[in-house]
Amino acid sequence: MDLGIKGRKAIICASTRGLGKACAVALAEAGCEVVINGRDPAAMAEAAKEIRHRHGVVVHEVIADVSTREGQRALLAACPEPDILVNNNGGPPPEDFRDLDRDQMMAGVIGNMITPIELIQSVVDGMAERGFGRIVNITSTTVYQPVERLELSSAARAGLQAFVGSVSRSVAARNVTINNLLPGTFYTDRSRAMASEVASRTERSVEEVVAERASTRIAKRFGRPEEFGAACAFLCAATSGYIVGQSIRIDGGTYASSF
Ligand SMILES: NC(=O)c1ccc[n+]([C@@H]2O[C@H](COP(=O)([O-])OP(=O)(O)OC[C@H]3O[C@@H](n4cnc5c(N)ncnc54)[C@H](OP(=O)(O)O)[C@@H]3O)[C@@H](O)[C@H]2O)c1
Repeated sequence: MDLGIKGRKAIICASTRGLGKACAVALAEAGCEVVINGRDPAAMAEAAKEIRHRHGVVVHEVIADVSTREGQRALLAACPEPDILVNNNGGPPPEDFRDLDRDQMMAGVIGNMITPIELIQSVVDGMAERGFGRIVNITSTTVYQPVERLELSSAARAGLQAFVGSVSRSVAARNVTINNLLPGTFYTDRSRAMASEVASRTERSVEEVVAERASTRIAKRFGRPEEFGAACAFLCAATSGYIVGQSIRIDGGTYASSF
């Protein structure tokens, strides 16, 4: 399927592994020039090599912490006029809410709410002037479906979704869209790390925890990152300009609702 975005420039934050990388791969497959980002140089080198080799597009490598203003400046220096922005970041580690101190709470809110908002502030007017923009925020289904020990992550992402509710409407007439993609359980380093944390707390093997979690999903499996990347690329398509301010759960149906 031709998404009509060949040659478009895309910044994909936190994208050397996992869901961010899957979005970068799908956008590269659609012919976009991509800026990928992460903090670990080894993971960066591997991801950049793979994307160039598979799709032959220009790949800019930005090793930086996206939660910092310097990191954001580095991303924008690599691509001053992006057509596409995928907001992503690591999430706060699972924690009993009683043990969260102020610094941890600030870091969670900065990482998963303020950082994407700052990046939207930086790019949205240029997109509107040029008459094309696609912004996708990776959040989480925990915004809808509470999960213990992830309260900080869920709350920060809920804040982001609320924030962009009106922002997305304010730029829709300029062919700039802002939408949220909400992953359920995907098989990435992050979900493996979370399974490992539960395994050590409950004295079970990681494999047992993963199998048990998969069995409780409606689709009886974890999502594959490439399924998530394909949905992200679809939201960035030239023909997706009428999808505005939506929060789309990609969770294999686990959140049960007819509406
Ligand atoms: N996987 C799931 O099932 C799931 C479900 C719901 C929500 N989510 C959320 O979706 C997001 C992506 O999850 P994932 O599973 O893809 O995670 P992942 O496999 O751990 O990958 C995270 C990626 O983000 C990069 N990264 C992390 N912190 C960064 C920072 N401060 N600055 C720049 N890059 C950073 C990592 O590279 P470096 O470590 O090298 O920086 C890596 O490339 C997270 O916020 C997660 O909480 C995931």
